[in-house]
This record gives sequence, structure tokens and C-alpha cells, in this order.
Amino acid sequence: MAQLIGGLGTSHIPAIGNAIHKGLQNEPYWKPFFDGFPPIRQWLGEKKPDVVVMFYNDHGLNFFLDKMPTFAVGAAAQYNNADEGWGIPTLPPFPGEVDLSWHLINTLIEQEFDVTTCQEMLVDHACTLPLKLFWPEGDCPVTVVPVCINTVQFPLPSAKRCYALGKAVGQAISSWDSDKKVAVIASGGLSHQLDGERAGFINKAFDLQFIESLTTNPEWATQFSVHELVEKTGTQGVELLMWLAMRGALATASAGVRRVHSNYHIPISNTATAVMALETV
Ligand code: DHB
Ligand code: FE
Repeated sequence: MAQLIGGLGTSHIPAIGNAIHKGLQNEPYWKPFFDGFPPIRQWLGEKKPDVVVMFYNDHGLNFFLDKMPTFAVGAAAQYNNADEGWGIPTLPPFPGEVDLSWHLINTLIEQEFDVTTCQEMLVDHACTLPLKLFWPEGDCPVTVVPVCINTVQFPLPSAKRCYALGKAVGQAISSWDSDKKVAVIASGGLSHQLDGERAGFINKAFDLQFIESLTTNPEWATQFSVHELVEKTGTQGVELLMWLAMRGALATASAGVRRVHSNYHIPISNTATAVMALETV
């Protein structure tokens, strides 16, 4: 059976792609963010996952407000980046892992998560940036199964539901008939708000408690409703639902987790950024 080696999380601001493209990683503005990655890349170099399941949110690129699935799973042989701006100008398509996609879809639907199945799916910065951040050199060495969670148009799924989705994904990975090594990734957050009266809102105290909870008390954030999460983390901070799904996946695959490394830095653009790696133990 496949082995779930751990979980990764990172923020996904489009401007990061621009910084990568222009080689700004060591500039004073960017360094505190990019410095979070080398210890995690080293761990990935030792563990060498073959496949990643990516929890991310589409920002109106593949899905728009007229058709917005709550949960959607990619089942394509490759995923093209079609993000419209700010980021890395050209990226080769990312290779899919079709066999795991269908195993995931079948398992999730059996477990009453009625996901939307996408045999074609364009991806945006939320899916492409984590891959470039964790594997910056050359072609992407992992295949990908994108799992899209709606954090864009209300009603959004609850924190509890996203954690449960993650658990079901973890079970599916562990029961996948393959000798491949799999990692789960959360793309998004932490606190940020891009629009309205509270644009620029950041909540460091909540973010730090949330990061801590992922190691010590993973269900902590499931006590909050989505509206409470928006209040505490901002309209886009609710992207932290991805981190709960990622952590839920690890909860089924292991007795516990070890924090390999984490980093928190304010701000990049409008966002409080975090990066983290958790190893299953
Ligand atoms: C920003 C953050 C995001 O999560 C996003 O999807 C787009 C922009 C930002 O802070 O600029
Ligand atoms: Fe976003």
C-alpha cells in the first residue's frame, strides 16, 4: 500500500511567483519568507515523495461564481497553469496521478463526500506556487492530485467538514494499492483580507495558536464556525481550511506527527505567511 509520509503547508501569494521569476529571494523584503524553506527542502530530499495531494482553493480561474463546487478533485493526466498575472510567466504543465485521483474519488464518494470530478482542470497560483517553493529546481519531481475546497463564495464548508474530508483523503491514500510515497500539501492562509473595510487585517495571535494546534491539538480550530474564522482571520484567511484538511489526512495515517520545521512571517503583500512540514510518526 502507499505510504503517507507527512504534510506540508504554505501560503500562496501571487507576488511570490514574481519574486521567484526575478530572483529576489535574498532581498530584505523576501528573505524572511524564503528562509523558511531550505530545512523543509532538505527533509523532502531525504523522504523523496513521489506524489502529492494538494488541498488548495481556486480563485475564480477554473471555477467561477456561476459554478462553484464545494469540493472538487482533479482526475487529469496533467494540469496547466492559467493564472492571469503577477506570477511566473510560463510554467510547464504539472503531471497528474490519475490512478490515485480515481481511487480518491471512489473512496470519498463511498464515504459520502460527493465531490465534483474534474477530468480537465486549469490551476492557478494556489496549486502551482507550493510546488515551485518546495521543489524550486528544474522539473517538478512529484505527480499531483489537486483537491479544491471552496473558500471563495459562500456558503463555505465548515472547519469540521474540511477536517473530516482530510481524514477520508488520508484513508484513501493509505489504502491506495501502490508502493509510492505520498505527501499532502495545504496551500493558503494564514490570516489575510484583501477587500472591504478590513483590507490588510492580520491576526498574529490567532495564527500562532493555529500553527501550534496543528501539532498538539489538531481539532482545535474545528470548534469555530466559518463566520467566526472569517472574523478571526479575514475573508481570505479562511484559506486555513486547507491546513485543517491536510492535518486531517495525517490523523488517519499515523499515531502522531513530528514538526520538521515551521516559519511565520508578516507580511508578504497583504498576508501573514506560514510554511510548515509535519512528518507522520
Ligand atoms: C494575496 C493572497 C492570496 O491568498 C491570494 O490568493 C492572492 C493575493 C495577497 O496577499 O496579495
Ligand atoms: Fe489565496
